Amino acid sequence: MRKYVIIPAGGSGNRMNNALPKQFMLLKGKPVLYYAIKSFLEALHDAHIILVLPEEHVAAGQEIIDAFFGYERIKIVIGGRTRFHSVQIGLEEVEDEDSVIFVHDAVRPFASHALIERCFKEVCQTGSAVPVIECRDSVRLLTAEGNEAIDRKMVKLVQTPQAFHGKILLPAYRIDYKDKFTDEATVAEAFGIRVNLVEGDEKNIKITRPADILIAESFFTT
Ligand code: C5P
Repeated sequence: MRKYVIIPAGGSGNRMNNALPKQFMLLKGKPVLYYAIKSFLEALHDAHIILVLPEEHVAAGQEIIDAFFGYERIKIVIGGRTRFHSVQIGLEEVEDEDSVIFVHDAVRPFASHALIERCFKEVCQTGSAVPVIECRDSVRLLTAEGNEAIDRKMVKLVQTPQAFHGKILLPAYRIDYKDKFTDEATVAEAFGIRVNLVEGDEKNIKITRPADILIAESFFTT
């Protein structure tokens, strides 16, 4: 079965108070995006990588590929208005429905081989794999009346890579966009699929705020 990895890196990143999107910020001297690509090239020797970039940063993405990887297994496409649209555009490059498709945020530099392997095994068995970790904070739900506590043991925090069989993800993404589509799991569910959860990884953080770069830097020394 063919393997594809879509890396949505199409965001222009306004939460970091920085003109440079977070996937291009440097982490130990290399762009955050470099680590996302490297994890998959190393973990999946036969996977095709589809890198989705903002139009204005295609040249920056090409520089990363030229400097570190080469184009044999990586293709660049230009992203869309939201993450959903960027993934939808990336999926147009998938040539074979009979495939495993991973989607991994460019801003998560620490997807371990073990995590990628767990997702792959789960997809082969059940068709979907969505990594989650425990919620360690107390959790409250906003309601019409105010707010109420929820049992945090009943809450999971969702990560990427999210992996699906092509026969699920390709038709699922033909749906019209809704604001709640923040990941592949929400799209697959809207298509009527129950997604399967796998154990995520505490280190697989998403670089979202300036402090996350400092946290990520600290992982290189621990
Ligand atoms: O927006 P969010 O923080 O959820 O972004 C998750 C990933 O989706 C990031 O890697 C970002 O670059 C990507 N993205 C995209 N196209 C957009 C918006 C976000 O590929 N239009």
